Amino acid sequence: MLNGEKIEVDVPPNEILLDTLRLRLGVKGPKRGCERAECGTCTVLLDGKPVYSCNILTVQADGREIMTIEKISQEALGRKIAESFSREGAVQCGFCTPGFVTVAYALAASNSNPNEAEIRKSIEGNLCRCTGYKKIVNAIMKSLSSESK
Ligand code: FES
Ligand code: FES
Repeated sequence: MLNGEKIEVDVPPNEILLDTLRLRLGVKGPKRGCERAECGTCTVLLDGKPVYSCNILTVQADGREIMTIEKISQEALGRKIAESFSREGAVQCGFCTPGFVTVAYALAASNSNPNEAEIRKSIEGNLCRCTGYKKIVNAIMKSLSSESK
């Protein structure tokens, strides 16, 4: 399942999920950054948990549920998080933003009112070269704490 739709695609056994999404399926939200499981720009949710799509084979996702920023940004919570990023100045070049929003969305599913330490822990696998992390943490905290009310 990809973003709520059942899809079938033939791929070589060594193809990474990021390539299947971007090159075969035209799902360009997950970004190609380091391709070494270090930056988090390629993050997607696999059965609700954030994974680096550059670090997982597509065949490993067979029969599982993949959710990308394309779907997340259509959900009320995803929109709320993304809007909070804009409001708090947590977006500059924006390259990292899909990954951060994806991780924040997953965090909200397990913790509706995370504290700063929990937010920082959740984003420790994501890098941003532009903003510093304080604005990102603020954006997540504000969007999720208001969500819980
Ligand atoms: S591109 Fe996947 S972690 Fe950097
Ligand atoms: S806004 Fe540019 S890398 Fe984060």
